[in-house]
Amino acid sequence: MHQDIATRVVRWQKASGRHDLPWQNTRDPYRVWLSEIMLQQTQVVTVRDYFSRFLQRFPDVAALAAAPLDDVLALWSGLGYYSRARNLHRCATLVMDLHGGAFPNSAAVLQTLPGIGRSTAGAIAALCFAERVAILDGNVRRVLTRVLGFDADLSIAAHQRQLWDQATLLLPKRDLHTTMPRYTQGLMDLGASVCSTRKPGCTDCPLAALCAASKLGQPERFPVKTRKLKRSAQSLWLLWAQKQDGSVWLSKRPSPGVWAGLYCFALFDSRDALDAAIAGNGHSASHDLPPFVHVLTHKDLHLHPVQVALNADPALEQGAWMAADAWPGLGLPAPVRKLLARHGLAERPTPGAVSG
Ligand code: ADE
Repeated sequence: MHQDIATRVVRWQKASGRHDLPWQNTRDPYRVWLSEIMLQQTQVVTVRDYFSRFLQRFPDVAALAAAPLDDVLALWSGLGYYSRARNLHRCATLVMDLHGGAFPNSAAVLQTLPGIGRSTAGAIAALCFAERVAILDGNVRRVLTRVLGFDADLSIAAHQRQLWDQATLLLPKRDLHTTMPRYTQGLMDLGASVCSTRKPGCTDCPLAALCAASKLGQPERFPVKTRKLKRSAQSLWLLWAQKQDGSVWLSKRPSPGVWAGLYCFALFDSRDALDAAIAGNGHSASHDLPPFVHVLTHKDLHLHPVQVALNADPALEQGAWMAADAWPGLGLPAPVRKLLARHGLAERPTPGAVSG
């Protein structure tokens, strides 16, 4: 039965899986690594454009390692989860400095690099080097727990290890050079299409006949995970200070912290603190834009943008006036970029003119 699963996944991938994504049809670890990092928390449709822009700008790992981190963050702007971009850059420099510019060809060594966890290491090693090694990202976890009827609680680390062991037992045993990449891609494709979280398409699934969850008639019960991520909330006031010439006051966010390394409006914990920074700086009026929520992994940010026309520097240690033509080249947090884009380029701020 174990080999049956591998055989079916490989056959299905060939016939019905995805074959035309820009990071497929190559065994170049640089491309596969870059795509896997981007795909960790972002959907294929979004990754496509970012991936080609990155490749154009940084055609190989040497080019990426040689670039300033600021340039990498700027190109990453909008993808979110910026620790991925910082790790990407660190990883590229380590590949140059420790591995002579060539990605390690085993999952065990790949895993020692920043940003590459066990599943990403497995994906790169299986797709590029046909190593017989498992992957277990969110999609694949769903496929395998369902097929196996694996109902142990995955918030417990020991159960996760058991599932990794099971995933390893299911790997193809023959013709690894062709089957490992196909099988790995096939599991990801199944998880991303047929074996969806809600209303999985069991009638189209190559594994339905072997699938314990499908036989139970309750595929949605899997995977089992009782402990939810604890989320917190934080309110922040954003000082959108703008001069007559249209430039805005931006400063580089400190590390560690929210949006570390990105260029951002000055942030305050309260409206009073924001007011103190602009008191006596020749502002004519301030305009509160509608607050909105920006969702991070562990935290909901309740953001309150306040637009102010200034003709002198705000009372802040950090930051500089940046003209509109510089914004596209900066790493800006997505909500800041959206606010600026909505406002249009280099216009004189007219308090009251901007709607939420
Ligand atoms: N998600 C993670 N890795 C992927 C890949 N190689 N192809 C499509 N979706 C993915």
